[in-house]
Amino acid sequence: MRILLTYATSHGSTAEIAEFIGDKLGKRGHNVSVEDAALVMSIDGFDAFVIGSAIHSGEWLPEGIAFVEEFGDEIDDKPVFCFVTCIRVLEDKGYDWVLNNYMPPWLLERLNLLDVTAFAGKLKFDDVSWEEEWTLALKYDGSHPAIDFDGDFRQWDKIEAWADSIARQLKTHKKSKKDD
Ligand SMILES: Cc1cc2nc3c(=O)[nH]c(=O)nc-3n(C[C@H](O)[C@H](O)[C@H](O)COP(=O)(O)O)c2cc1C
Repeated sequence: MRILLTYATSHGSTAEIAEFIGDKLGKRGHNVSVEDAALVMSIDGFDAFVIGSAIHSGEWLPEGIAFVEEFGDEIDDKPVFCFVTCIRVLEDKGYDWVLNNYMPPWLLERLNLLDVTAFAGKLKFDDVSWEEEWTLALKYDGSHPAIDFDGDFRQWDKIEAWADSIARQLKTHKKSKKDD
């Protein structure tokens, strides 16, 4: 299958997750393009989509939102998988909270979502600009201050497991389409 794996990132860690998932799906025999959501010009010829966004101030990055708004109708009923990367997922019961609050139905309901997930991201205070520091101080959407989470929290084994599950779901999807 031709898969477009597109991501919205501010500091690059979501892009690295996208590349990693793309690599795993490629090894499963898929033809994968990994592209920055801000740079996607066309979705012609893709059979399935993986869309990832980092979260800032409790929301998807604008480039991720713009991708779904621009191409959502064209994607139509093709299978879509979504992930977000954030910090709040690290809190107690954070995973459920994130899925309930960072997967906005107003944006995603038009898509044929086969699966959604949330990954712990990367937040290095040495790398954030003063403007972002203000955003984190005033608008970070968590119940602990963001400064409590300074580091790279990406769990590659969980990300790999999700990539495997995408491959499995696409196999079943393809088969059920053939049986239609
Ligand atoms: C300015 C700023 C605001 C953020 N706001 C949130 C937030 O509201 N909730 C959250 O869980 N994580 C928040 N984060 C953490 C990011 O989602 C996390 O660091 C993510 O991994 C960044 O991905 P990137 O490296 O692709 O930009 C914020 C990070 C920054 C820099």
